[in-house]
Amino acid sequence: MTRLTALYTTPNTPQPEVRMPNHFVSLADFSTEELRKLIELAHDVKRNPRAYRDSCEGQTLAMIFQKPSLRTRVSFQTGIYQLGGQGIYLGPTDIQLHRGETIADTAAVLSRYVDGIMARVFGHSDVVDLAAHASVPVINGLSDFNHPCQVLADLQTVSEKFGRLEGLKFAYIGDGNNMAHSIMFGCAKMGLHVAVGHPKGYAPDAEVTRRTREMAAVHGTAVQVTESPIEAVTDADVVYTDVWASMGQEDEAAERLKRFEGFEVNSALMAAAKPTAIFMHCLPAHRGEEVSAAVIDGPQSVVFDQAENRLHAQKAIMISLMGRRH
Ligand code: CP
Ligand code: NVA
Repeated sequence: MTRLTALYTTPNTPQPEVRMPNHFVSLADFSTEELRKLIELAHDVKRNPRAYRDSCEGQTLAMIFQKPSLRTRVSFQTGIYQLGGQGIYLGPTDIQLHRGETIADTAAVLSRYVDGIMARVFGHSDVVDLAAHASVPVINGLSDFNHPCQVLADLQTVSEKFGRLEGLKFAYIGDGNNMAHSIMFGCAKMGLHVAVGHPKGYAPDAEVTRRTREMAAVHGTAVQVTESPIEAVTDADVVYTDVWASMGQEDEAAERLKRFEGFEVNSALMAAAKPTAIFMHCLPAHRGEEVSAAVIDGPQSVVFDQAENRLHAQKAIMISLMGRRH
């Protein structure tokens, strides 16, 4: 199997080793302490990138994309290059998956060539299967179920803005989708209160809500799932939204426009949050749908910091899973 030990050793700031899962598939797989270490490492990578320029020297990351991407593709390819390695983009028609080669065979073959696999897939079971059959680390670059890389970068961003995570209230408004699920897990693990305001019929997965409540109980934090956006954002420190129709749901876009009426994050909704609240969005965004231009382009918005932190957070993930000892 792959390396089990995360390496956090930097020239000047040696840190204790912690045991990490072999793969980065869901935030739910990680302990609070492991996520805290990853976020700390992401901060250090951002402050001191040169200290990590050999961390993945000579290593190759295969990047499987079954869906389009701007941020994930460019930040992973740039990130592995900055760590001394290289990335290989494998688009939907570049490999044999779409012609019936199995996930298991794809994982086994790639493991003979590369040092890590990043995959953006439709069904979450595809990334789970890749991890089950690969002998190198597998990183989930988004599935229909979750988007853990995004939320690791988002937690890094929140921590930068507030200087802490514990005790903050994080409100997510919109579809109970992959973003909602990772936000719920990430907040519950890191001691934030989380509130999800969703339209009727678009709640997060009930099992995710149940598990989130279990995780939150450890920290004594609140988990609120409501059909009232105003209730969700009241006194929030963070207001987050995402597209109403995710990749693969294009056929439902018109119907969703109607069903999500009243869930736009606009200045009136932001006024219910704390005056110090920040606005977040994983991007890509649709101004005039899930968020008004005044909010996403306004002073509370940190969306481009989030996008930047994808690079640093994912370098932290690659160093932890694939990195060599200095
Ligand atoms: N936020 C995000 O994952 O963006 P991409 O779809 O462009 O990778
Ligand atoms: N929920 C969106 C997230 C994009 C980063 C999607 O899956 O398309």
